[in-house]
Amino acid sequence: MTCRQLVVAASAEKRIRNFDCWVFRDELTPPREAPANGDVVKLTDRRGTFLAYAFYSARSHVAARVVSTDPHRPVDRDLLSQRLTAAVRRRSEVLATNAKRLVFSEADGLPGLIVDQYTDVLVLQIRTAGMDRWRTDVVDLLQDLLHPQGVLERSDKEFREDEGLPPVTHVLAGVVPERILIEEDGLRFWVDPHHGQKTGFYLDQRDTRHRVRERIQPGARVADVFAYTGAFGVAAASRGARVVCVEQQEPYLALAKDNAVLNRVDDRMEWVAGDAFYWLEAAGGRGERFDWVLLDPPALAKSKADISKGRHALHRLLVHALGLLKAEGTLVLSVCAYHLLELAEEILRIAAQQRGIRLRVRELSLQAADHPWIVQMPMTRYLMSWQVQRDESPAA
Ligand SMILES: C[S@@+](CC[C@H](N)C(=O)[O-])C[C@H]1O[C@@H](n2cnc3c(N)ncnc32)[C@H](O)[C@@H]1O
Repeated sequence: MTCRQLVVAASAEKRIRNFDCWVFRDELTPPREAPANGDVVKLTDRRGTFLAYAFYSARSHVAARVVSTDPHRPVDRDLLSQRLTAAVRRRSEVLATNAKRLVFSEADGLPGLIVDQYTDVLVLQIRTAGMDRWRTDVVDLLQDLLHPQGVLERSDKEFREDEGLPPVTHVLAGVVPERILIEEDGLRFWVDPHHGQKTGFYLDQRDTRHRVRERIQPGARVADVFAYTGAFGVAAASRGARVVCVEQQEPYLALAKDNAVLNRVDDRMEWVAGDAFYWLEAAGGRGERFDWVLLDPPALAKSKADISKGRHALHRLLVHALGLLKAEGTLVLSVCAYHLLELAEEILRIAAQQRGIRLRVRELSLQAADHPWIVQMPMTRYLMSWQVQRDESPAA
């Protein structure tokens, strides 16, 4: 395969040599003839020394994503096969569930490819123009490797636009049912792969759900705010807690109710279809108090430009949520906005100060292990959860 050669700046060269994989547009010497969107390109340093094979994007601010740093391993079906096999093998460490992320894009050396497994159905997302070209090979290889009952593509998110790709949702192979029954941590959940958020289920919150569930006591009063299909709420109720789930979108709440019935905890659960910001404020006004408030909002800042707005929204949420805690009550704050991760603790501190309460960290957890965090690729760490307890100790 012949591919165009592009020269990268010293900053990108340094990062590539340290296993990072993004090259920004202003780090590429503009070529005389630009590659096409999605082409595989050869990246070199300014002396012409080979650095990597990469997917080229004609649109995104990330102009190239490294796939291989071995000059003898170009991007081909064989390389994809090896990467997919290795990614699937690594997931054998993920136990106590039959739903897991098998491929996490750059973190598995497959830039732009997400593959989630729900029992014997695979749901994939293609996020880069480069990977978009390899769809057929990827599906063939996954079928050879895993023999799924069906493969669904859910490449319907806004990030496709940045890459100049249209949104697509379609069954690529076999049969994909409307709902799939999965197990996590001894509980059962319905997943809607066709219409659900992400690929249907928040697999990345598995570890945090488990850690929270372990601590919840029978009879505890729990608010699952931004509940989606009730995974946290059902987990809490399975421990004997009384739970109220707050979720804006009715179809998700309908699935959450079915999940409660499925796990025989519906008699301990209440449902609020509405805006979480409004509910938190109103519940405080009514004097409601909880042993646990679980706060898992959507990404409140999707880009750097949103940071100020996101910061404001998170602050507002926290002031209201902290006001609902009983003495010794625990707040679980999950932040899935990369751009807010470093700020979250400071915002938590400010909100706690306004409420005049001291907070003790019980635990900090990350995205589940099937969403690996590569140290040299900061963007691969995107989800953190703080378990903080209202501290009524004498020192307070
Ligand atoms: C990150 S997801 C929650 C995932 C959930 N905790 C789980 O583990 O399955 C965020 C949820 O918040 C909902 N949402 C977004 N804005 C909302 C709002 N203003 N009020 C209530 N729910 C909202 C979304 O529909 C989505 O289901």
